[in-house]
Amino acid sequence: MANQKHTRPATKILVDGGNPEDTKEIRKLLGYVDGQTTNPSLIAKNPNVARLVKSGQKLTQSQEADEYRKIVETISPLVGDAGVSIEVFADLNTTADEMFRQGREMNSWIPNAYIKYPCTTEGLKAAHYSVSEGIRVNITLCFSQSQAAAVYAATKGATTPVYVSPFIGRLDDIGQNGMDLIRNIKRMYAAGDGHVLVLAASIRNLGHLLCSFHYGAELATVPATVLKEWVGQGMPLPGPTFSYKPVGSEIKYENLNLNQPWDTFDIQHDLTTKGIQKFVADYKSTIR
Ligand code: E4P
Repeated sequence: MANQKHTRPATKILVDGGNPEDTKEIRKLLGYVDGQTTNPSLIAKNPNVARLVKSGQKLTQSQEADEYRKIVETISPLVGDAGVSIEVFADLNTTADEMFRQGREMNSWIPNAYIKYPCTTEGLKAAHYSVSEGIRVNITLCFSQSQAAAVYAATKGATTPVYVSPFIGRLDDIGQNGMDLIRNIKRMYAAGDGHVLVLAASIRNLGHLLCSFHYGAELATVPATVLKEWVGQGMPLPGPTFSYKPVGSEIKYENLNLNQPWDTFDIQHDLTTKGIQKFVADYKSTIR
């Protein structure tokens, strides 16, 4: 395979997308893909799903689930041990029990599933139930250090890996330096037991990717376009003189106690709410 001569980063590389053809292409280019993340917006863009919707054949909920299942079944054997993240359908009123029901079902689709729950009170309850059953989880739409602290506390004792996905690009979009959130969570988790791994998400450019390596994110999920650019530049890694030009205002580090009960942390974030609404809209655009 190509590029074996390049040093592989310590950060695991996941493809952020809903098209298995992208996963295949990146696997050829890099020589490996550690994992994949999907979400309702990315599934709506899958060529097969988009074609059905465009031709006027919107899907029933069960057909949508079948399409989602087929997509992750195709991706599953292409990736390494970072698995395939599958996101439950949740709007702002979905209960933890309902998310958990979906999570259990999705977990049965493939052997290397990570179930994505939103970083909300109900999502964290569902994550708590899941890890107690040995289901691997990825808590998505994380925009603050206190949300990441809640993820840590809600999943304490997990015997399976837990991912938290801080969204870099969407914080940049509102004038905050998204990379600071990765740095702050890594610093906070250094005092913990290591059961939650940081999965840098909403990566929009090479700067985000290299800085995620630099801050020691355990995983990074990256659109195929950015990975192709990285390969095109010879798969660089950040050197000792690496510096990142901040985007927007600094997100300051907070002193938080990871041993507090999870529901005492401030879990609310407007971008989490907006993110859920966008996922719902994109999901519904495919449904009859
Ligand atoms: C991955 O898990 C996330 O859903 C994804 O990185 C979000 O990226 P975006 O902010 O570019 O939509």
